[in-house]
Amino acid sequence: MDGNGRWARRRWLPRAAGHRAGVSVLTPLLETAGRAGVKTLTLYAFSTENWARPEREVKTLMKLFLDTAREKVPELNERGARLHFLGRRGHLPAPVLEALEEAENLTSGNDTLDVYIALDYGGRAEIVDATRRIVADGLSPEDIDEVTFARYLYAPDVPEVDLVIRTSGELRVSNFLLWQIAYAEFYVTDTLWPDFSPEEFVRALASFGSRSRRRGGV
Ligand code: IPE
Ligand code: MG
Repeated sequence: MDGNGRWARRRWLPRAAGHRAGVSVLTPLLETAGRAGVKTLTLYAFSTENWARPEREVKTLMKLFLDTAREKVPELNERGARLHFLGRRGHLPAPVLEALEEAENLTSGNDTLDVYIALDYGGRAEIVDATRRIVADGLSPEDIDEVTFARYLYAPDVPEVDLVIRTSGELRVSNFLLWQIAYAEFYVTDTLWPDFSPEEFVRALASFGSRSRRRGGV
């Protein structure tokens, strides 16, 4: 979900206004995902690298995550979304982590749309954390294959990613789901995240639908 800062700057607004605008597009997009038959959606909200931002912006973002959880979780629950947290659990402010864990518990019985919130998430951190747990579990080299390894990721149930949507025109992966995107298709758009509309989401899905996926075969 990239481009909030640029969206705000173009309007002479503070970055925080861009982040708030970024939150406001979530509900229509989630509705669109549900209607389009998307089963799993991951939102990359805050990376392990984002802690390097000025303290004030980090604080603003953490408060926004908390307010957004309080505001949106009941509604998402009613619509049958199942929420999951994806990331390191040790560094986030306690109220944010608690809100996420409460949302996970509240929605655990739902099954319309699985929504993963990647917060304090980094693909490299996830792989390192998985490796640590494999070593701690005492697995021997011959026990480790791709299936076993994937079981040690933060959320082993996250399916292989089909489509990555990258807003704001950046042509990079930015440490997102490194393991899971091995054969993902990409949709890159110059649209800044707060301007990303349900119509464009549908276009991204249509673009995905028209591709031929050979996964290294012929
Ligand atoms: C994405 O927008 C929001 C987060 C990373 C939390 P940015 O804040 O990165 O927006 P730009 O890249 O400055 O436009
Ligand atoms: Mg950015």
